[in-house]
Amino acid sequence: MYAQVNSLALYGLHGTVVQVEIDIASGLPAFEIVGLPDNSVREAKDRVRAAMRNAGLEFPLRRITANLAPAHLRKEGSGFDLCLALGILVAEEQIPAVRLHGVAVVGELALDGSVRPVRGMLSLALGAKEHGFHTLIVAAKSAQEAALVEGLQVIAVESLTEAVRYLTGTYPLQPVVVERIASTTARAGGEDFSEIKGQPHVKRALEIAASGNHNVLLIGPPGSGKTMLAKRMPTILPPLTTRESLEVTQVHSVAGTLAEDVGLLHDRPFRTPHHTISNGGLIGGGQIPRPGEVSLAHGGVLFLDELPEFKKSVLEVLRQPLEDAQVTISRTQATYMFPSRFLLVAAMNPCPCGFYGSNYKPCTCTPPQIARYQSKLSGPLLDRIDLHIDVPRVTYQDIVNPVPDESSQVILQRVLRARQIQADRFPDRPFPYNANMTPVDTRHFCALAPAAHALLHEAFDLLGLSARAYERILKVARTIADLQDCPTIGEMHIAEAIQYRTLDRKLES
Ligand SMILES: Nc1ncnc2c1ncn2[C@@H]1O[C@H](COP(=O)(O)OP(=O)(O)OP(=O)(O)O)[C@@H](O)[C@H]1O
Ligand SMILES: [Mg+2]
Ligand SMILES: [Zn+2]
Repeated sequence: MYAQVNSLALYGLHGTVVQVEIDIASGLPAFEIVGLPDNSVREAKDRVRAAMRNAGLEFPLRRITANLAPAHLRKEGSGFDLCLALGILVAEEQIPAVRLHGVAVVGELALDGSVRPVRGMLSLALGAKEHGFHTLIVAAKSAQEAALVEGLQVIAVESLTEAVRYLTGTYPLQPVVVERIASTTARAGGEDFSEIKGQPHVKRALEIAASGNHNVLLIGPPGSGKTMLAKRMPTILPPLTTRESLEVTQVHSVAGTLAEDVGLLHDRPFRTPHHTISNGGLIGGGQIPRPGEVSLAHGGVLFLDELPEFKKSVLEVLRQPLEDAQVTISRTQATYMFPSRFLLVAAMNPCPCGFYGSNYKPCTCTPPQIARYQSKLSGPLLDRIDLHIDVPRVTYQDIVNPVPDESSQVILQRVLRARQIQADRFPDRPFPYNANMTPVDTRHFCALAPAAHALLHEAFDLLGLSARAYERILKVARTIADLQDCPTIGEMHIAEAIQYRTLDRKLES
């Protein structure tokens, strides 16, 4: 006796079809699973057997072979359990095979026969729709996530018994309807820039960063508010588009960090990995890879606090996601890809003691100590950071100033206008931001007024700037001019942009 039922497995961020074939032959009772299963899949045998018995169903005492196809793909996890149980029942002719045409089944079985959710349901459901299934049977607890996919009928089951009754027609179940959760971009009661007193220069720089999508490095003594500022970055970035929302939700679903029944994520992520993080933790890893912090930050902000404390190798692996906006992880049998388009906000003290260059406390470090500390950031990473922002301590006057500071909403309106100008400038690009300009672009789109040209020339010679620093200054000046709606870059724009290269000057002097 033979049956074939379809399930789905995660493959990076994608749901791919796995055909579960069941063959039941006479012979000594046995249950074997083939088709590159890992241990977690092999353990399905015990769960399926126990769940069926506890659901009052007969587990056949014959030779059962389950084949998971395609065979070349490694299978992990418990998501095939329900499919295996239903496959056995179809092979036994207890469920009509026709009921499972065009239907995919995903769910883990508990020993008592209840059906449990599996991670990555949104991706699995998208995969089901893409591969032409009209119906997906899942655990009730993952039903809301699956139902986010339009044009796919989702049937939620609490238990194996319920699934069997549904498929034998004795228990009608209605397709799940999404309980639309209101967009949460308003951030009622959330963090806001208005809570940050003073610091006008720092706020201005972060507005530029948000406008042109420029990565930033905050440099300042302890307690100057670097962490506080970084946390509020997502509040001045535009709301996620529907497509971004879907992608962000998929990543978090696959990583297993999505709360139950939250629906689509509407807020831009803010991730703060600790400096002791491993390479795998940052970019993703595992036998069957899962997304790392750079992907969990996709669509939002990756905040690396105390940047020089991160291991060199960790900072090295940041290069690919920063350059390609995605991570590729190779395994012998397949290559996995996760998106990782994030805004990098890094923070550091200016020296080991933290007070170099501040008028608050004297710095106790020796010049070689300071040089060694700052040189940990050499090369490729620094090359990807357009803005270096000095963050001094807030002044007493600013703390006691009764005038309320500007809210994130007000700043966001300016950011949105500047982003619109960029979208009009690069109409065919999916990510039309000044930070993404190539050297060819900067030649085309960064026309300088004569005075601006003269100033840049002078600064270049005087400060000993590199060609890379020159490119960064042009991009940032472009964004500053956009914030003023100026087609040509003026002297003031260049002058401001030069201020955001403090570290080059320190490192190169
Ligand atoms: N401009 C400011 N307005 C209001 N409060 C501030 C400001 N700057 C700092 N603070 C207060 O100081 C605290 C410390 O700030 P924060 O932790 O962001 O500093 P930091 O620069 O990240 O310090 P560290 O280098 O120690 O990590 C904040 O929780 C906040 O209460
Ligand atoms: Mg901090
Ligand atoms: Zn110091």
